[in-house]
Amino acid sequence: MLDLAVFPVNIITLLAPAKINLALHVTGRRDDGYHLLESLVVFTAFGDRITVEPAETDRFFMSGRYGQHLPDDQSNIVVKARDALRARIGDAAMPVSIHLEKNLPLASGIGGGSSDAAATLRALVRLWDHNIPDDELKAIGLGLGADLPMCLHGRPLIARGIGDELETLKDFPRLPLVLVNNGHEITTPSVFSALQRRNNPSLDPLPDSATPPAITAYLDRARNDLYPPVRDRIAPEISEVMDMLVRTRARFARMSGSGGTCFGIYDNDRTAHEAAGAISTLRPDWFVTATTSLPAGGMPHGWD
Ligand code: C5P
Repeated sequence: MLDLAVFPVNIITLLAPAKINLALHVTGRRDDGYHLLESLVVFTAFGDRITVEPAETDRFFMSGRYGQHLPDDQSNIVVKARDALRARIGDAAMPVSIHLEKNLPLASGIGGGSSDAAATLRALVRLWDHNIPDDELKAIGLGLGADLPMCLHGRPLIARGIGDELETLKDFPRLPLVLVNNGHEITTPSVFSALQRRNNPSLDPLPDSATPPAITAYLDRARNDLYPPVRDRIAPEISEVMDMLVRTRARFARMSGSGGTCFGIYDNDRTAHEAAGAISTLRPDWFVTATTSLPAGGMPHGWD
């Protein structure tokens, strides 16, 4: 009989959390066209899942609600992440099977693709047992997308620059959230190009005490500068998504990233679940989920 202890099967599964821009200020534009941002970002307990394991030849496959909607070839950011890391590691990067459980809606402002790529990099570094300094991993990530570095971080932060200069927040609460998306895919470049103003005021400093009420009061004074172009020109029906969050008594509601996913912050997990249930009942075809933000400290489940 085969003694499995002699052939340990190395299977690694990591959460690829949704990225939520609690606030997003566009403060300028670089000569190369990329925009300068200041964003308060958290990640959620709900997300995609990446599983990697050794294989005879490379494999990549998807499952989940949105798994049928993405290409499984070289154009998939997960495959790009695998190949970029392999180019850095060389022969030690053995063939691998990668499974993406795609639970997050596509082109929806919550960093799904970037988070999948970040989780792929983290998982493969471990599977291939290769020590890569975080700065180098971040540089590989940045080559795949501006949101990759923050997704590699995976915990509450303030992002500046084009989203690649990260300030870790040591003290930030776990927030009960509902995420809502009406299925309208929005491409990020279209939103940036529809911006009317690119030199907007910076984020204020965070409150000294990071309690949920202090954070929502702070957010009331902040903005998502990408919301006006989406609401006024690109996808006006997003107003209905915001209305649903307000009508279900969210303490605070806003669009994340370039949309169209919007989030509500609720008083507790019960009210968040009730709100998600009510919205799903009214709009059964929408993506609606109650979740929480991952608090400061440590890495998302399985990343350490
Ligand atoms: O880097 P990533 O592929 O995620 O960005 C998608 C697009 O969004 C870029 O090609 C650019 O048009 C726009 N973008 C931007 N400024 C940023 C991030 C993204 O203009 N800071």
